[in-house]
Amino acid sequence: MPAEYRSRRSCLAVPGSSERFLGKARGLPADEVFLDLEDAVAPAAKEAARRNVVAALNGGGWGGKLMAVRVNDATTRWAYRDVAEVVTAAGRGLDVIMLPKVTDPGHVIWLDLLLGQIEQDTGDPAGRIGVEAQIEDARGLARVDEIAAASPRLRALVFGPADFMASIGMRSQRVGAQPAGYAGSDAYHYPLLRILVAARAHGLAAIDGPYPAIGDLDGLAAAAASTAALGYDGKWVLHPTQIDVVNRAFSPSQDDYERAELILDAYRYHTAVEHRGAVMLGGEMIDEASRKLALVTAAKGRAAGLRRSQRFEPVPDGPAEHPPVPERSAEHPPRGEGLGQPRGQA
Ligand code: GLV
Ligand code: MG
Repeated sequence: MPAEYRSRRSCLAVPGSSERFLGKARGLPADEVFLDLEDAVAPAAKEAARRNVVAALNGGGWGGKLMAVRVNDATTRWAYRDVAEVVTAAGRGLDVIMLPKVTDPGHVIWLDLLLGQIEQDTGDPAGRIGVEAQIEDARGLARVDEIAAASPRLRALVFGPADFMASIGMRSQRVGAQPAGYAGSDAYHYPLLRILVAARAHGLAAIDGPYPAIGDLDGLAAAAASTAALGYDGKWVLHPTQIDVVNRAFSPSQDDYERAELILDAYRYHTAVEHRGAVMLGGEMIDEASRKLALVTAAKGRAAGLRRSQRFEPVPDGPAEHPPVPERSAEHPPRGEGLGQPRGQA
């Protein structure tokens, strides 16, 4: 998990060639918006799309969403000008560059260097703009660990199922759905888990790709629930109707979130005050591993805007069971490891 957890539950794709879609995307409740210069933009429209994207970023009004631009891949003739023109003219409105079809760590290193040159030129803080790398073919997956380690700018690895299916020869036209005839349970399990492990090994977020069957919200919900359960942070959305489904799938349930916050409180209290390493909470033994799991759920819940309704009430020298009591304030707890301390403790 990244140290400062930033919500990327829904990542909305917006074609840079469509001023209408760029305008509509501002008001939508996606956590991340990526303005696309790559596969949603025809070759003849690439230059106009760059201008639209610059205008959209400089126009503001994005309401704190995480802002990304997907440039063309590092082997194309468009890539250097996508980065140079967009970042020079609108870098301050941008959080990350999404780099597609990464097959070699050199692609990420190229982008890191180019961003560094632009930052020197514009006087913007070095290293502020992050990178999300799309892993979407057999070569990228085979080198995913090296790619994940290629730059401190990396924030996330993103699975690209459509290009990946084409790359490995999967016999299906239905992106994200299980290919007919496949006897296993999930044809995407291997790339999804491989990418997730590489991402986590390097402190990065992991994002699942699109589910293009816009009318099939049940299929989308099932696909999103599955990657969320595996540990992914979010998933692309291609249409406004997909956003709520995906946001829900990647938010912890209120019960899981409450429980995670209570575990953090109880564990901190018992280890720091009573010097016990394993204690009971709600009939379950909790220890250091429980704390690590709780940190993940609590970070995702807070970033998703969930609020506690219960607070931990320590009973000094009492039994190790502590019933939760209703939270008095709806205040959001502070971020970070120090949160959830019992009241009155440092
Ligand atoms: C996304 O870029 C995909 O190829 O699925
Ligand atoms: Mg792709």
